[in-house]
Amino acid sequence: MPGNRRQERSPPTLARSATASGSTPRTRDRSRGWGNSASYGLDLLANGIRWRSGDEVLLVDGDFPADVHPWRVAEPQGVTVRLLRPAGPVVQPEELAGELRGRTRLFCTSWVSSFNGHAADTRALGQVCRDAGVTFVLNLSQALGARRLEIASLPVDAVTCCGYKWLCGPYGTGFCWLDPRLRESLAERHAYWLAMHAGRGFDRIRDYTRRHDLGARAWDVFCPASFFNVMPWLAAIEYLLQAGGERIERHDQELVGLLLERLRRGDPWRPARCRHRRFPARRQSALLPASLQHGGRAAPRGRVARRAGQPPLSRGGAFGGPAGGRRRPFPAARPPLRR
Ligand SMILES: Cc1ncc(COP(=O)(O)O)c(C=O)c1O
Repeated sequence: MPGNRRQERSPPTLARSATASGSTPRTRDRSRGWGNSASYGLDLLANGIRWRSGDEVLLVDGDFPADVHPWRVAEPQGVTVRLLRPAGPVVQPEELAGELRGRTRLFCTSWVSSFNGHAADTRALGQVCRDAGVTFVLNLSQALGARRLEIASLPVDAVTCCGYKWLCGPYGTGFCWLDPRLRESLAERHAYWLAMHAGRGFDRIRDYTRRHDLGARAWDVFCPASFFNVMPWLAAIEYLLQAGGERIERHDQELVGLLLERLRRGDPWRPARCRHRRFPARRQSALLPASLQHGGRAAPRGRVARRAGQPPLSRGGAFGGPAGGRRRPFPAARPPLRR
């Protein structure tokens, strides 16, 4: 793996290399694969790990489905997928420690919960895994870009992330990073022609020699040169890097603070309250779930969309609302971050 380890493992360079240097085969870091989603990294792990019958994959009950489904492809090989139900909004290290068994081979969780906006203590969870010799896979999708990750010293074996949330890229972008030891242990499941020919001249286009020196590139998603996706994502990442992770995180936290303040000031929107009071406030991410109150209770979704004056948002029918509607800012806070 070229370069300095700290720099190699910093989140902006993780994402940047999946885009910027991804197009220059000779200089590209070999630990990062170019994906098109968060799922892609999970899929390649679930299919690439050399499972043993009896292995267990431990996941979080209540996590986003992208973190759960991919592992089930390993079930026919004798792998058990088990769900850990946390007492609070996210898994605590003690809970994880109490749930690991001799057969537990891998633990996977989101850093920030898609549903309650709380951030897991990744360092402590990673340490629990490391101490038990369990592979730790972290999904950064709801956090990276809005939060900084001290990945240089984080005990994590793989991270995966979509590009179309806080990394501000278009749908269909993403990357994953694998610790070289994990990467080298994976079974090769792809032999993509474009990767095989990286750096080879056109005169060798019909050279079918199989290469084994590709590193993470061997796992690149097919058709990586989708310019309409990659170029805007590259621009977004460059913008985020220039603005600076610390500044973005501070700004986002200010916005969350302002939003919370306004919501508490009598707007019929209420921030979703965490039932577990011992959960530290600093673990609130830039995701802030809120519900529209109606007669002292959360209003149904249709009313929520109408009240917000937002056009309905839907993905796979997961959320629907009334068509049309007057657009109204939902509670406006501050102008966007400027350079
Ligand atoms: C935690 C988390 N992971 C992954 C995804 C999406 O996964 P993918 O990029 O594979 O569509 C989402 C939401 O869309 C999410 O909230």
